[in-house]
Order: sequence, then structure tokens, then C-alpha cells
Amino acid sequence: MADKATLHYDGKTYEFPVIEGTENEHAIDIKTLRAASGGLITIDPGYKNTGSCESAITFLDGEKGILRYRGYSIEDLAEKADFLEVCYLLIFGELPNVEELEKFHSDIKTESHVDEEMKKILDGFPKSAHPMGVLSSLTSALIAFNPSSVNVSSEKDMYHAIVRILAKFPVLVAWTLRKKKGLPLDYGDSSLGYVENIHKMMFKKPNEEYKKNELVIEALDQLLILHADHEQNCSTSTVRIVGSSHAGLFASLSAGISALWGPLHGGANQAVLEMLQAIEDDDGDTKKYMAKAKDKEDPFRLMGFGHRVYKNFDPRAKIIKKAADQVLGDLGIEDPILDIAKGLEKEALEDAYFVDRKLYPNVDFYSGIIYRALGIPTEMFTVMFALGRLPGWIAQWREMRLNGEPIGRPRQIYIGENSRPFVTLNER
Ligand code: ACO
Repeated sequence: MADKATLHYDGKTYEFPVIEGTENEHAIDIKTLRAASGGLITIDPGYKNTGSCESAITFLDGEKGILRYRGYSIEDLAEKADFLEVCYLLIFGELPNVEELEKFHSDIKTESHVDEEMKKILDGFPKSAHPMGVLSSLTSALIAFNPSSVNVSSEKDMYHAIVRILAKFPVLVAWTLRKKKGLPLDYGDSSLGYVENIHKMMFKKPNEEYKKNELVIEALDQLLILHADHEQNCSTSTVRIVGSSHAGLFASLSAGISALWGPLHGGANQAVLEMLQAIEDDDGDTKKYMAKAKDKEDPFRLMGFGHRVYKNFDPRAKIIKKAADQVLGDLGIEDPILDIAKGLEKEALEDAYFVDRKLYPNVDFYSGIIYRALGIPTEMFTVMFALGRLPGWIAQWREMRLNGEPIGRPRQIYIGENSRPFVTLNER
């Protein structure tokens, strides 16, 4: 592969270096284009051909169905590591040893209180508020209560801000759910594992002893790992670009949560359950909806099938399908919605339309099913996604700051009016 690219434009020739990543990806480095050409820029709405950074965190290959965090396959991590180890790996670049992991967890536990005044802010929201809006606001509000974490630049201060948010964010997630359910707002139990503590904070009833279900905790742990990073997607790019103005970690994360909220991004697993509910309300007729999905005149699409990046299979879906089968089997849940999901999955996997187009159930299909089986309300699904994505956002923000990346400032091609004389109000 050549190490230079040449551009001929308007009688002139420009040369640009071609950079190569560790997985043999290539990019034309056009940093000097505008200055060298006297104003020429590139345009790429949606940035589908534009690399915004060089990153050493996550590698994915959509054609081959590969997803790796810091070089480790998602299959190995989901099977052999727990979520907290994956948090450490993503953020600091290496798997922790026993002492490192213990210290990390202990530092998180020390920070796992949230100022009581934050409850008043939560109280101000109506019960009907969407949990993603509440979570984004609460994350932003945390800034006021933790001013020393606002704009950090040394590695030591970054570390403190990171353990703080890893400690406090699960409390905010739990409070968001508990407010919806009308349950008292509690704190965690620092004798428990990171994910078990999250589960307890979310579900503990005031008048019942919390009982750990190993299978549930394992499924939740795995789901969080599978969602932990996915390189430069919409919310991650948001976190990096907001952070590039040095707005601070919590503000950058709050913006990332807002980006994830969108139905084109993190809202897909919620859309899956809403579709299943609509099918159930329509007499559970899966055949009718399969036909609608295949009908080119009908805009309906089978939610949770197909993927923009993974064109052969979604490696995360393979892992989570196993967990979904296990959770549904072992918990012995009887739920018509879940029966519809299983029916649709079977029909689609045997249907020529779906097989020919390589449309398989994606991670959102199975994660929606598991969350439902675990008793998590549909509106909270995207919040669970945010909880999983938190270490990825943090890792990307930290990398951006440590690399000293410049403030994000895309350009545009102006297509509006040319200069024109002002017309006063009564002359218009
Ligand atoms: N149901 C029915 N047909 C589908 C579906 C679906 N879910 N997905 C794709 N197709 C069809 C398309 O109509 C197209 O058919 P054609 O070749 O006859 O025209 C063919 O499969 C290829 O589809 P594309 O639209 O080219 O695939 P694209 O990469 O643009 O879209 C997407 C991927 C948006 C995920 C799509 O599959 C979809 O809408 N799925 C349902 C929504 C969903 O689950 N989204 C979350 C996925 S996670 C993510 O991508 C962020």
C-alpha cells in the first residue's frame, strides 16, 4: 500500500501522507489540505468516511464480525472477565492484576455516596419523565457537587474523577428507576461486587431481604461488557467533541447520554420491545409482521434485525443469545411477549428473505429480551445501555485528553444568501 496520496485540483498537485493502523486500516491524512490549497476542505455528512482520531481502545471489523477491546476478543472478555475488569482494561489499557483490581474497586466504593441534595433535584422531575433525560440532567448536576472533578488534566485528578463517576453513576441509574417505581432512594452495599451492588440498588424492596440470583447477575454483567465500547459511534464522538473543549468529564458524559437517547442509536432495544408489544396487541400474529417486514411497499422493519456495521453477524448477539436462552430457561418465565420474540427469531432465521440479506437478530434484540426477563421496565433499557457504555465513554474521553487533541471544530460549505442590504422593519 502506497504511503502517499496525491490530489490533483485546479491545475495543482497536493501530496498527503497515508497512515496505517495496527490492523492495516489506511487513512489519507489531510490535516494540511486547507492551508496548502488556500481554503479547500472535504465534505462528509455523517462522517462515514472520516476518521476523527487515532485510537488504541476498540477495534471492530463489521464484515468479519470482530469486536476487540484493547486487543482482547469480546468472546474472551464476556466469558472470562467481569465488568469491572473490563472497565479497568478499557480505561487504563491493560487487564488489572488482583491488587490493581482490589484498589480500583475500593477507590470506587469510597466514592459511592451521592449528595442528599441531589434527591431534591430528582424530586423536581415528574414520574412520567423519560429516564434518559433524568439521567443526563443528574449527571450534569453532579458537577455542582463535585467541583474538583470539573476540569481535570493531570492523570491523578483524572483518576479521581473517573472513580467518582464509576461510583456515583450506578446510584443515579438506580434512583432513576426507583423514582419511576415509587421506591425509596437507597445507597449501595459496599460488601458486594460492582454489578451485584447495582442490581441490589435497583431492585431491593424496602420490606424484603435482597436475595442474590447468580444467573441474573452473570447475565447483567455480560450485557454490560457487551455494550462497554463500540469505537467512534454517535454518543462516543459526542463525548470526545464536548470533552475537546475541556468542558469536563461529567459534562461530556451527560452530553453522551443525550446522544445515546436517540432512537437511531441507543433506543433500538426499547423499539424491539415496543414492536413485540404491538404484535401481541394484534393477536400475536407473527406471520403478519414477517410479511409486512418483507413488503417493499410497507415501511415496517423487524426491529432488532440487521445492523449497519455488522454485515455477516454481530459477535455480541451470538454471545447474548446463549445468555438469553439460559436466563429464560432457568428463570422459568412465562411471558407471551418473550414467546413472540422466540417465534420471530425462529421464523426469520429460516426465512429466505432474511437469510439472503444476512439479517440476523442483533444485540438489541436479545438485550431487550433479557432486560424484560430481569424485570427492567422498557423505558429503562437505554439507561442500562448507558451504564454499560460508561467505561467506554470514559476511556475515549481520557485518551482524547491525554493525546492533547485539539478542540473539535468541523467546517462547512455555506449555501445561504450572499451579502444583501438590510431592510428596516416597516419597509418589509
Ligand atoms: N426488516 C426488514 N428488512 C430489512 C431490515 C429489517 N429489520 N433491515 C434491513 N432490511 C432489508 C432492507 O430493506 C434491504 O432490502 P433490499 O436489499 O431488498 O432493499 C436490505 O435488508 C439491506 O438493508 P439496508 O437498509 O441496506 O441495511 P442498512 O445497513 O442500511 O440498515 C439497519 C441497517 C438500519 C440496522 C436496518 O437493518 C434496520 O432498520 N434494522 C431494524 C432496526 C434496528 O434493529 N436497529 C438497531 C441496529 S443497531 C445499529 O445499527 C445502531
